Amino acid sequence: MLLPGKVALITGAGRGIGRGIALAFAREGCDIAALARTSTEIEETADAVRALGRRAVTLVCDVADESAVRDAVQTVERDLGPIDILVNNAGYACFKPFTQTDAGMWRRTLDVNLTGPFLCIQAVLPSMMARKSGRIINVSSVAGLKPIADQSAYCASKYGLNGLTKVLALELRPHGIGVHAICPGGVDTQLARENMPDRDKSNWLQPEDIAHAALFLATQSPRAATDEIVVRRFDSTPIGG
Ligand SMILES: NC(=O)c1ccc[n+]([C@@H]2O[C@H](COP(=O)([O-])OP(=O)(O)OC[C@H]3O[C@@H](n4cnc5c(N)ncnc54)[C@H](OP(=O)(O)O)[C@@H]3O)[C@@H](O)[C@H]2O)c1
Repeated sequence: MLLPGKVALITGAGRGIGRGIALAFAREGCDIAALARTSTEIEETADAVRALGRRAVTLVCDVADESAVRDAVQTVERDLGPIDILVNNAGYACFKPFTQTDAGMWRRTLDVNLTGPFLCIQAVLPSMMARKSGRIINVSSVAGLKPIADQSAYCASKYGLNGLTKVLALELRPHGIGVHAICPGGVDTQLARENMPDRDKSNWLQPEDIAHAALFLATQSPRAATDEIVVRRFDSTPIGG
């Protein structure tokens, strides 16, 4: 096992990529705190984690709610112990042309995708800094690396998350805390189905493809740092210069 006795807090763990990461980590011996707003879905994730022989707690929480996030982290530390790995995966998308993007959609996207990780990181840091160890994995997107039409708010939030990731990798390095991003291309999940209902997803990524990258980041030697992993569809165009 690669993560024996570790504790991971995974936001958006009720379905899709977050659930995939929760189960991949649990299979490697990690206890899981599953956070999202829908209790039935995180309970299902927790049941699957327990079926793998690991401990699980569920946290009904909106990542954009500062006091709820603080309470959730305290609950995890009380019930499972100190958090070794934070996966900021909860995400929101509402794909529209910029002219149809109202301030409410803009704020909600930034609140969930960028302020949410900020709040979760702030809440777990005191314990990670005291122990001089920890891993923070931010689930970003290829939309944080290239412009995509009709995704202005989403791209802005993910570009912001990639920037935050790199600044924190620098600032938290002296504290022994690694900060990393995963930038997936299209993954066949509810978020993608709701926002791109007309796209054929038969060749899209599956949550386990992203979980594989998360497991690599969570288990990489402390000697090494990987800032960003791009996981794109095999038939898509490579990203970067
Ligand atoms: N699917 C893709 O093609 C794709 C590509 C690149 C990046 N991503 C990123 O991958 C991450 C996971 O997305 P997914 O595709 O797996 O979507 P998903 O299947 O819709 O799952 C999203 C998860 O996040 C939770 N969530 C949403 N808003 C939340 C909030 N305010 N507070 C707490 N939890 C919240 C959802 O549960 P509740 O609704 O119950 O809260 C759910 O558990 C997101 O950050 C997304 O931007 C996805």
